[in-house]
Amino acid sequence: MVRTSRLLVLGLAATALLRPVARAQVLVASPDGRNQVTVQVHDGKLYYGLARDGRALILPSLLGFEFQGAPPLRDGLRITDTTRQSYDAWWVQPWGEVARVRDHHNELAVTVEETAAPGRRFTVRVRAFDDGVGFRYELPEQSGLAEFAITDELTQFSFVDNPRAWWIPSDRPRMDRSEMLYSAGPVSLLRRVQTPLTMESQDGRTFLVIHEADLADYARMSLRGSCIECRVLQADLAPMNDGIKVRGRTPFVTPWRSIQLADRVTDLAPAVLGLNLNPPSVLARTDWIRPMKYVGIWWGMHIGAMTWSSGPKHGATTANAKRYIDFAAANGFGSVLVEGWNTGWDGDWIANRNAFSFTQAYPDYDLAAVAAYARERGVRLIVHNETSGGIQNYERQLDSAFALYQSLGLDAIKTGYVTDTTAEGHSHWSQYMVRHYRRVIEAAARHGIMLDVHEPLHDTGERRTWPNMMTREGARGQEYNAWSGDGGNPPEHETILFFTRLLAGPMDYTPGIFDLLIERSTGRPRRPDEPRVRTTLAKQLALYVTIYSPLQMAADLPENYEGQPAFQFIRDVAVDWDTTRVLDGRIGDYVAVARRERGGQTWFVGAITDEQGRTLEVPLSFLTPGKRYVAEIYADGPKAHWLDNPLPVTITRRTVTAATRLRLVLAPGGGQAIRIRPAS
Ligand code: NOJ
Ligand code: CA
Repeated sequence: MVRTSRLLVLGLAATALLRPVARAQVLVASPDGRNQVTVQVHDGKLYYGLARDGRALILPSLLGFEFQGAPPLRDGLRITDTTRQSYDAWWVQPWGEVARVRDHHNELAVTVEETAAPGRRFTVRVRAFDDGVGFRYELPEQSGLAEFAITDELTQFSFVDNPRAWWIPSDRPRMDRSEMLYSAGPVSLLRRVQTPLTMESQDGRTFLVIHEADLADYARMSLRGSCIECRVLQADLAPMNDGIKVRGRTPFVTPWRSIQLADRVTDLAPAVLGLNLNPPSVLARTDWIRPMKYVGIWWGMHIGAMTWSSGPKHGATTANAKRYIDFAAANGFGSVLVEGWNTGWDGDWIANRNAFSFTQAYPDYDLAAVAAYARERGVRLIVHNETSGGIQNYERQLDSAFALYQSLGLDAIKTGYVTDTTAEGHSHWSQYMVRHYRRVIEAAARHGIMLDVHEPLHDTGERRTWPNMMTREGARGQEYNAWSGDGGNPPEHETILFFTRLLAGPMDYTPGIFDLLIERSTGRPRRPDEPRVRTTLAKQLALYVTIYSPLQMAADLPENYEGQPAFQFIRDVAVDWDTTRVLDGRIGDYVAVARRERGGQTWFVGAITDEQGRTLEVPLSFLTPGKRYVAEIYADGPKAHWLDNPLPVTITRRTVTAATRLRLVLAPGGGQAIRIRPAS
């Protein structure tokens, strides 16, 4: 299945200049000249800096490594070589937020060498794009540096001003550790935080997002404040069980460290910098990879109406699965997720992580019969594989399990890693786990299987190389509204996710809960201290547009969609896009997005707000001028309010053109969802 790529190369110019040089400072600018990275040696140490429009954003910041059993690679360096090249090509995503992506950058590679023995050397490769910059380390094969064990990566980000950051902590050890609510505050007060880290410069002129790309065989990066109340963040790598961060042997390359840049917050999405920093697809055929909507035996367990484990409330029974399959088929959904089908859930399923079988079904669930029934109805199954961090237990079964699923025509898996550290004591984000997640992606690709990963690594753009790696969790999702001790996700949550977590890639948030109070589903009134969904119903619809995912769930119980006219929007909404435009937004307050379906002329608009009601003026100038469209509008109904009146939705229809300005009235905690299709 492996071949090089389907790049549409429009132009490639490679030139090697300035070789060899011993200059102390070199720089590279983005094609538009606005973003400039300077690399320099000062007192034998290597630094990079970043400026935009001639204004410094990142001051000279340290580069280098510390090792176990070897001196740091940091001191007594001199530049021995620089090379440059420029690149400009378009490539097409098999699926995505946008169909076509332009990779246009200027590259500078700077090689440095220790002046003293053993004279170790490395290269820093920098790419400057109009939407940001990336750099990575390359350790070439050399006698003074063969096998190595990195104990610290010294990369720093030294900010000129004290930007405001939207962050979640990265304090180990913790369960489900990206599933947190965001805080905002100055960079100088950050201790240890996750990426992508979105920041706004104090003067409001620049938005910056630090993240990483192409994390294939390394430790996941977080960022830590490197001194008290200063403005310096440093790369912070997750350890394996012996404290080592990365084991390798030269030649070796690290992931890219990326800094996305934008003048306006609405220019941050759709983010493609990380995709451009990943290798092209290695899959020869991608026609089997299908973005789709799905339903599942899932929410019932989270609200306590069903169980994963065996017993009278077992959710994954053959009969129940058939009911969901019928529902999916009747409503045009592609797949049905079934959780709790396999043995291992009884008792404490987190502690018993090595007890999970990935082939053995519970006696009341006939996997082959359910798969055959689904096939007859034109629906597929998403097979659930919860590992609880029993990594070796899972890896032992990977090939036989995936072969079984493939033989039954099951082409998607939702994995899960509800765990603190792995069974072997490695950090969830260590190189050990990075290798594991990769192994699963590769095994899945071999068996024609798409992936939806829960408790994942953060997304570093691997979907470009492995388009079967479709979506993941990696943030607080809808499930917290079922059982979290703090009442559920606050109304502002998704307006922050859009400008933070979602800049890394798609998220399986699982929108579409209609029984917002979770009373109908459980058959009892909710106590005020119990969690619930803290949005209006119209906002649940809008999430299908604002939260991008190629696998998008209609998360509620099928019976909660019965007799609900608003369900039509979930049936209609697309999951794969040609174009995405952020119309308006402010981090933590609101966002409005328009997307045009892949290969079609229909647009969808989603707007969501925090606990404040607000009215947005949205010009429809993205529509084709002179053409008439019908807008189907799902708006918060009269007096809707997330707290005490979340259900009213008003559905209206009107003719619009590119000249129309829509007034979107959003209730507190509300939203609006619109389908705009050509009138003819
Ligand atoms: C956590 C996942 O996020 C959730 O979707 C799943 O149902 C449970 N783990 C059980 O695997
Ligand atoms: Ca989770």
